[in-house]
Amino acid sequence: MKAPRKYFEPLAIGAPRPLLELPFRLERMIHFVPPHNEKLRAKAGELVSQVDVLLGNLEDAIPIEAKTAAREGVIAMARATEFGTTGLWVRVNALNSPWFLDDMTRLVGEIGDELDVVMIPKVEGDWDIHFVDQYLALLEARHGLKRPILVHAILETAEGVNNVASIAAASPRMHGMSLGPADLAASRAMKTTRVGGGHPDYRVLADASEPGAARPSAQQDPWHYTIARMVDACAANGIKPFYGPFGDFSDPAACEAQFRNAFLLGCAGAWTLHPSQIAIAKKVFSPDPAEVAFASKILAAMPDGSGAVMIDGKMQDDATWKQACVIVELAKQVAARDAGYAAVYQL
Ligand code: GLV
Ligand code: MG
Repeated sequence: MKAPRKYFEPLAIGAPRPLLELPFRLERMIHFVPPHNEKLRAKAGELVSQVDVLLGNLEDAIPIEAKTAAREGVIAMARATEFGTTGLWVRVNALNSPWFLDDMTRLVGEIGDELDVVMIPKVEGDWDIHFVDQYLALLEARHGLKRPILVHAILETAEGVNNVASIAAASPRMHGMSLGPADLAASRAMKTTRVGGGHPDYRVLADASEPGAARPSAQQDPWHYTIARMVDACAANGIKPFYGPFGDFSDPAACEAQFRNAFLLGCAGAWTLHPSQIAIAKKVFSPDPAEVAFASKILAAMPDGSGAVMIDGKMQDDATWKQACVIVELAKQVAARDAGYAAVYQL
């Protein structure tokens, strides 16, 4: 077993020291841009003021003949855009693909000091993170980077879900994890062609109260179990869980419902693949003003967080005080980034 102190020693001579704590950033949406598309790439300058994270996608959805153009497109986009406090991430190709090595060497060499996070697809276990960790340290040392690039894993294989706890704990470089429902469905042989969301056939049927009586049924969330496991693994290791893509752009209500389930279970944000999903993510992952007002009431009534009080007929104690802290803290972070919400929350 690795000695605890060694986790915070650089993995390569001259590489920056691993971080003891994640830098805090609001990441309600990770907005995907296909960087080989010059027209879409040119919109990056406008997008940075609307999104919390802009991600150049090099992996799935990028045609094989455009892989190199996408890689060079991310570099051009990073150079041409002033990111300010908006995060710059890249989803690189999978570790076993013919593009991974060049993705990493070009990106770190050219824009390593601007790149906040690399998203690694199809992570199967902690060994994948250890490899990326070591490789990034060597590249960071070669290019004289001053701060470590963080790693975000996509949880999208059955083996990855099996190993989710060890992936989350694999390195201080870990930023978080996203659920990838499309690849995960395929890996598990789930019988769906959807990208995230519910399925009309995945439901429970009420018992028959009497012969011939109508039996109500309700759709269930097929992602509940995986999101819950991912949230526990991430929270236990001080990193951040995210819901991934929602593929039906024609159904904003279902997108909102899926994002909200993820938010309520503990996720920090979700991917937005279409500009119409940015407002949905912003709304869902910024806490509800009524919840913020109620949480603020709890904090005002229990300044030191101990004892028990009744507010609006509801019992509050040390545990609900902690819940209120989660909501008020998030609201403060949202308000600091977003003047519209600052006015609404009035914190
Ligand atoms: C995302 O990459 C997914 O497979 O859902
Ligand atoms: Mg995938």
